[in-house]
Amino acid sequence: MKVFLIGANGQVGKHIVKFLQENDKHELTAMVRSGEQEEQLKQSGINAVIANLEGSVDEIANAMKGSDAVIFSAGSGGKTGPDKTLLVDLDGAVKSMEAAEKVGANRYVMVSAFKAYDRESWKDSPIKPYMVAKHYADLMLSASNLNYTIFGPGLLLNEPGTGKVSVGDSFEKTSIPREDVARAVVASLEEEKTYRKTIGLMTGETPVEEALKSLE
Ligand SMILES: NC(=O)c1ccc[n+]([C@@H]2O[C@H](COP(=O)([O-])OP(=O)(O)OC[C@H]3O[C@@H](n4cnc5c(N)ncnc54)[C@H](OP(=O)(O)O)[C@@H]3O)[C@@H](O)[C@H]2O)c1
Repeated sequence: MKVFLIGANGQVGKHIVKFLQENDKHELTAMVRSGEQEEQLKQSGINAVIANLEGSVDEIANAMKGSDAVIFSAGSGGKTGPDKTLLVDLDGAVKSMEAAEKVGANRYVMVSAFKAYDRESWKDSPIKPYMVAKHYADLMLSASNLNYTIFGPGLLLNEPGTGKVSVGDSFEKTSIPREDVARAVVASLEEEKTYRKTIGLMTGETPVEEALKSLE
């Protein structure tokens, strides 16, 4: 599969790059925001392109041309305000879906947030604007014609992954290493059990591939 990764310079994104590089089934194009990031990736033999989610759908579609699948692992982060949450996490995400439809990249894997679909679960959260953005971006994706997978991970940790996760919507744990989110994203690309599904994702006891295959 020709895979287009949005957010390739991010903390989850870098793990996704690593797993895609190790996996000879896929060919990666990494979307980044700066020439410096592009150069670094190119020096490691990775095909990189510059585009910005605050740019136009055409700019994103141009960068995406020829791709079969899109992974969205970008985010405005905790250091910017609700304006960027709206412009990147919501509108940027939706623009990337429009771009994917435009270029015929039919497979789309979204790194969302745990229970973004359930307003009740974040109605009193301090990050409510972020959850609202994720909620509506996910709604747009699930209403699109794209063959989507929406992952809803809990709190992301920088500790090394275990390769083992739990899928569902009720968990004992509330977090997951970023490396394991990346593993699940890459493993989902061609796993039909994940197609057109929203999947809660936490650290757990089941190897990633097995956990995804167990989905009903
Ligand atoms: N933090 C959590 O606990 C948590 C929980 C659940 C889900 N998530 C979601 O998980 C995903 C990955 O998180 P992460 O920790 O890897 O995030 P991260 O390290 O902050 O990476 C986000 C990436 O998005 C890129 N980005 C920001 N604005 C952009 C724009 N306008 N155009 C293109 N790219 C842009 C950043 O580019 P630069 O490198 O140039 O800055 C960065 O590479 C995000 O969607 C996040 O919302 C996070």
